[in-house]
Amino acid sequence: MWVLLFLACQTPVDSDTSTPDLVLIGLDPSDAPIEGLTAEQMDQFNAGDIRFEQVFRESNGLGPNYIRHSCASCHTDDGRGPGAVTKMVVLADNGFSAAEDQSALPWGFTSRPQVAADAVTPLVPPEGVDNLLVTQRFGPPVFGRGYVDAVDDAAIEALEDQQAELGLSGRIHRLEDDSIGRFGVKARISTVQAFTADAFLGDMSITSPTRPDELPNPDGLTDDLLAGVDIDDEMVQVVSDYVRFLAIPTREFIDVDPLFVSAGCADCHVPTLPTRDDYPVPQLAGLDPYLFTDLLLHDLGQAMSDGLVEGDASETEFKTAPLIGLRFLPNFLHDGRAETVEEAILHHAGPGSEANASIDAFEGLSVAERDQLLTYVESL
Ligand code: HEC
Ligand code: HEC
Repeated sequence: MWVLLFLACQTPVDSDTSTPDLVLIGLDPSDAPIEGLTAEQMDQFNAGDIRFEQVFRESNGLGPNYIRHSCASCHTDDGRGPGAVTKMVVLADNGFSAAEDQSALPWGFTSRPQVAADAVTPLVPPEGVDNLLVTQRFGPPVFGRGYVDAVDDAAIEALEDQQAELGLSGRIHRLEDDSIGRFGVKARISTVQAFTADAFLGDMSITSPTRPDELPNPDGLTDDLLAGVDIDDEMVQVVSDYVRFLAIPTREFIDVDPLFVSAGCADCHVPTLPTRDDYPVPQLAGLDPYLFTDLLLHDLGQAMSDGLVEGDASETEFKTAPLIGLRFLPNFLHDGRAETVEEAILHHAGPGSEANASIDAFEGLSVAERDQLLTYVESL
């Protein structure tokens, strides 16, 4: 629908004068709640904000092995980094897919270098393993994720149905419980709530009722200094509500740039998606927010591979990153390999990538047009 609306008011694109004057106001995106929260919701938001920044200690259940001790250390100002997760995998001889034999990594694919409680052995990439690929995975920004949580399943399904027409093969990451994965770089989890419990455990080794067991670790420990489950459901809820109530950073202008459409960016970075009418947070229900994603997995080819298979998502597949608050990000793509938006775009191309036609179109633009498109994307 938006395409039709947009085409109806399309303006000629042959000159850079069509770029609106950009005043980058550098508004701090952190801790900005969505508009119209009730007093009760604001209390929940503020309580969650404190927990999001809280440094967890051994007395709170930190350990045995962990990566960082607060959510904010990897999502500072609700954005990306500076903390990141180190991933490791043994590659097959082709250099981009996972080898069948992963026995060199008995504790899994995630490095957890910090030790607490009774742990003494850091969980780090082993030395002397052939074909070991070690990558960084940066925490994506978390602002605006309530809108992503609220997107109507039917809209994502409709986009999946249109893939063949677009010459693309994006697909839903359908999870075991039949829900649609939408969080994580490979869309491996379907709700902010479930992701929050997963992050507490996976990143901070804080167990909760839905994730009660400590992860396998080199010292074989099954608990930390706080016996049993470390936090309750209410704590998970308060942090997850904080994330859900975060606004999308204010944008100076939003009209979709014609070049964003003609270069095929909008085929994957679909400008708006409708949210469910019955989403439990009424302020997020029945809207059409600008998220610039289709929430589908796309194959970006062998050069982008991180060698990791997650659920049904392959080594080369990634969820279309929502282009939200880009001007606040220190780097781009799941592993931060791009320092500029232009580099990020060029990295979409390569053998086996679904985005090749789009990147060809980008490269075919005149210098002035490229400038216009980059200025637009950088302002989102
Ligand atoms: C050690 C760094 C680190 C810490 C600590 C951390 N995260 Fe993350 N976060 C990440 C990474 C990396 C990803 C991408 C994970 C993936 O693809 O599986 C992520 C993804 C997310 C996402 C999904 C965003 C999206 O749109 O895909 C949410 C929500 C999130 N984190 C919330 C939290 C919360 C809440 C906490 C604290 C309980 C937390 N994170 C702690 C690194 C971290
Ligand atoms: C075939 C689908 C597809 C097309 C076409 C596409 N993208 Fe992407 N884009 C993705 C995926 C998937 C990612 C996430 C990659 C990752 O996580 O490493 C991404 C990531 C990005 C990022 C990095 C965002 C971040 O948070 O780091 C930018 C910027 C971006 N795309 C811009 C564009 C622009 C501009 C175009 C058009 C020239 C475009 N993309 C075309 C699928 C696509």
